[in-house]
Amino acid sequence: MPLETTDLTPLIGTQIFIDKSAMLAGTYSAELRAVLEQRGVFLIRGVDLSDEEEIAFAATLGQVRSDFGRPIMRVTFDKTKNPEHAAYFHGTFYWHMDATHQDTPPLASILTPRILAREGGQTEFANSYASYEDLPEADKQAFEGLLIEHEQDDALRAPGLVPTEEQLERMRVLGTKVHPLVWTHRSGRKSLVLGISAKRVVGMPAKESAALIGRLRAWMTQPKYVYHHEWQMGDVLMWDNTGTLHRVLPYDKTSDRRLHRVTLVGEEPITDTPQRKAA
Ligand SMILES: [Fe+2]
Repeated sequence: MPLETTDLTPLIGTQIFIDKSAMLAGTYSAELRAVLEQRGVFLIRGVDLSDEEEIAFAATLGQVRSDFGRPIMRVTFDKTKNPEHAAYFHGTFYWHMDATHQDTPPLASILTPRILAREGGQTEFANSYASYEDLPEADKQAFEGLLIEHEQDDALRAPGLVPTEEQLERMRVLGTKVHPLVWTHRSGRKSLVLGISAKRVVGMPAKESAALIGRLRAWMTQPKYVYHHEWQMGDVLMWDNTGTLHRVLPYDKTSDRRLHRVTLVGEEPITDTPQRKAA
């Protein structure tokens, strides 16, 4: 039987109709990988997965990553539920791609809600393949070869928040990473790499660099490229970290809101010339 799907917006997001047994058996893993790459985000509703099932489903789609020896990341500001990371989620309110401090950022992540925020806390995703493809030809040419410096300091940026030296150091050691603005994937498709971690265009005067980054961020997050997700219990949502940006909308950080995330290891480095490098 073919996979049953329906698109959630014209340019990003597809709902999949599949039952838990087919998810865990990997019956449609090739089709799901293809939907992920083409549509940026897929959503399965009404499937309550335990942690073990969420990990097992992820393993049908790629290699599961462990953080601090655990495959489940509890996304919450509740320190009792995630002592290692709870202080570092402030940056999630800004449009970003996960782990731009790495050459090969994670391929994708799955989120399942465990406790919803009473208000806010929706997650949004923007398709950075589509926003690249729609650029005027002159921009596409001008952006070839442009390099962007990324830093991870925004994880601790929030009104009224004074991070500790230890917290600052944990972000500082991630250092500065340079990536091309335009990622040419192995598939040949191109996407823009420009979340909140993008600080400056290498070799460009500061004002010009800030203006270009600002203009591109606004371009990439136009409503036509965005899927806005209203969480329901039982949701299983997966996004392609290599071809989208994401952010969470504001919610009360003292709430118990918690989602469980499983992440797939990246499979290709950010590069503008994969074919040449492979030759
Ligand atoms: Fe994130």
